[in-house]
Amino acid sequence: MSTVIDGRKTAAEVVEKVKALTSDLAAKGFSAPGLGVVPGLAVVPGLAVVIVGEDPASQVYVANKSRTAKECGFHSVQHTLAADTGEADLLKLIGELNADPAIHGILVQLPLPGHIDSGKVIQAIAPEKDVDGFTYVNVGKLGAGESTTAFVPCTPAGSMLLIERVRGRDLSGLNAVVIGRSNIVGKPMANLLLAANCTVTVAHSRTKDLAALARTADILVAAVGRPEMVKGDWVKPGATVIDVGINRIPAPEKGEGKTRLVGDVDYAQAAEVAGAITPVPGGVGPMTIAMLMANTVVSACLAAGLARPEF
Ligand code: GUN
Repeated sequence: MSTVIDGRKTAAEVVEKVKALTSDLAAKGFSAPGLGVVPGLAVVPGLAVVIVGEDPASQVYVANKSRTAKECGFHSVQHTLAADTGEADLLKLIGELNADPAIHGILVQLPLPGHIDSGKVIQAIAPEKDVDGFTYVNVGKLGAGESTTAFVPCTPAGSMLLIERVRGRDLSGLNAVVIGRSNIVGKPMANLLLAANCTVTVAHSRTKDLAALARTADILVAAVGRPEMVKGDWVKPGATVIDVGINRIPAPEKGEGKTRLVGDVDYAQAAEVAGAITPVPGGVGPMTIAMLMANTVVSACLAAGLARPEF
């Protein structure tokens, strides 16, 4: 049987570190050019989360983000806008948040309603407040191997921390296969693995003989959104399996109309073969919010002229 990678535990450790850094920031205060550190000027990390419309899943995610931000001691602001909010109004709000010195991180929850151009809204976020890592400046930095100065998207950043816990920071000589090529997970994940010296293959819906390819992976990351697609015989014995999927499926065994959460990996099968594996729930999921907090405290430290903390 494989080691179960406990995302809740690692996420809690990240959140503890964020809390400690937040207290430090309050104690250290603002570091101004020429003035040095000004202790009286306490800095409180500020996170603004923007949600448009009433998608129930998005509302749960956003409520969790705001709650964790408060737990960390952040200045936490949530903007809940009506589903028919116009693009111009949303862009105006982003402009205000960009200019607000109390805000260090801005997150616009996706998906946005169809009448709004998501790309335009995301790219309007100031790169230094883009704690989601979706602006072209941050995407470009990560793609260019500048991952230590970029904001990295939270789900791949969290997945990478879990991989490090099992395999260490230098992944030289290991083959990684990432299934899924999304901008939010697959592509940044591939860049992070490459930066850690893996040999990386990105697979997707047009890939031939996915099972055989997956079996070459020492590190297998599944981020496709298809319940239990990755079977036990797709997994190389001893591999590290990171399941990014969160899929709700019917669970008639629990009663009529009941559902349960599963990943993109058939956990029972894969756990028989893998060296280490993330469960769903309790694997990558909790890491996403923890890394959002980490990115926000990093942004606040940088805005205060302090060194960038490492996670
Ligand atoms: N919707 C689903 N995942 C994410 C995410 O990581 N960031 C944002 N902004 N929206 C999302």
